[in-house]
Amino acid sequence: MSQRTLVLLKPDAVRRGLIGEIVGRIERKAGWRISAMELRTLDRETLEQHYAEHVGRPFYEPLLEFMTSGPAVVMVVEGERVIEGVRALAGPTDPIAAPPGSIRGDFGTIVRENLIHASDSEESAEREVKIFFPSHG
Ligand code: RTP
Ligand code: MG
Repeated sequence: MSQRTLVLLKPDAVRRGLIGEIVGRIERKAGWRISAMELRTLDRETLEQHYAEHVGRPFYEPLLEFMTSGPAVVMVVEGERVIEGVRALAGPTDPIAAPPGSIRGDFGTIVRENLIHASDSEESAEREVKIFFPSHG
C-alpha cells in the first residue's frame, strides 16, 4: 500500500550534522521516494497547527521553543507502508528507551530533542503535508 508521510528533521539533527545520516537511512529503504524537501526555520504559527493536539501539556511551550531554535528539514516521503516504516526507523519517543539501530536510539538522549518527527497515521499525514507543503499534489 503506497502512502506518504510528513517527516521533520528537528533542529537538533540539523545542528549536529545528522541530515545525511538520517536521510540516508530513509533513502536506502527500497522503493521509497522523497517528493519534497526543504531546509526551513519553522515559525510558531505553523508549529501551533502541527502540535495542536499537545496544547496545554507541560512540554508544549519548551517544545515550540526548541522547534523554532534553528533550521529544520521538512520533507514528504512516499512509498510502501512508509508511515509505519519511518516511525519504525525513528523508534519510540524517548531516545533512551528507543532500541539501538533506530535513529532516536542511536543518536538521542533527551525526550524533547529526539531528532525526527514522522506522521503517525494516514489522517495525520494528510493533515501535516497540507500544513508544511500547502501546494504539494
Ligand atoms: P513526533 O510527534 O515528534 O513524531 O513524536 P512522538 O509522536 O513520538 O511524540 P509525541 O507524544 O507526539 O510528542 C511530540 C514531541 O514532543 C516532545 N515531547 N517532549 N515529556 C516531554 O518532555 C516530551 N514529551 C514529548 C518530543 O519532541 C516529541 O517527539
Ligand atoms: Mg506525535
